[in-house]
Amino acid sequence: MPKPYKQNVYRTKRLELRELRASDWAAWASAHANALPKQSEWDLTPVPKSRRQKTQFKRKLAAQTKRFKKSGVFLWTMFARETGEFLGWIDISTIARGDHQIANLGWFTMSQHRRQGYAKEAVLKLVSVAFHELGFHRLEASIHPRNKLSIKMAKSLGLHREGIKRFYLKHNDVWTDHVCYITTPELWYERS
Ligand SMILES: CC(C)(COP(=O)(O)OP(=O)(O)OC[C@H]1O[C@@H](n2cnc3c(N)ncnc32)[C@H](O)[C@@H]1OP(=O)(O)O)[C@@H](O)C(=O)NCCC(=O)NCCS
Repeated sequence: MPKPYKQNVYRTKRLELRELRASDWAAWASAHANALPKQSEWDLTPVPKSRRQKTQFKRKLAAQTKRFKKSGVFLWTMFARETGEFLGWIDISTIARGDHQIANLGWFTMSQHRRQGYAKEAVLKLVSVAFHELGFHRLEASIHPRNKLSIKMAKSLGLHREGIKRFYLKHNDVWTDHVCYITTPELWYERS
């Protein structure tokens, strides 16, 4: 089996999917400067100009990379191949290896770049990477029942709605039920 902790670079028709690098500061800062006001409770709180400086970015990135490597988390930043714009990210986290090979699949598109099929294009690629290169067998997307766009995204991907996870995640400091969508190779390649 391939080494599970190596995060490669992937390309789709419109996207480059890879680790965030210190040299990405300008694209990152520009994307945050151009973000729309918060669109929903699942959006990022806008990053103020004072927290978009190069030195802070580099420091945070180094700490994040160290943390992710230690816990085995994968985070692919989505860049537009044509313009180099920072579009968002897809992550694989909450990992159980051994006999489980389970992880959570997360997605985020910067508000100014939504509804252009970027997140779906990236996930379609990375699900097969997760199964065939990273050794995962089960990917879960646990979504707050009010997060309608994310639920649409899970349905559009053809994920299987498994049920409700009771009191699964803290949302606004309250343990909250989440809808669990999953896929495995058996389900992914059978979906219509
Ligand atoms: C959910 C989210 C990642 C979708 O990203 P996106 O790049 O806009 O999504 P895409 O353009 O790839 O759309 C994928 C599918 O989602 C659905 N969708 C996304 N935005 C939609 C909208 N505004 N209206 C209706 N359907 C929508 C569609 O079904 C679409 O598939 P289709 O075009 O085949 O019908 C984005 O809205 C986001 O970042 N939200 C905030 C963060 C978040 O909620 N993360 C998930 C936490 S569980």
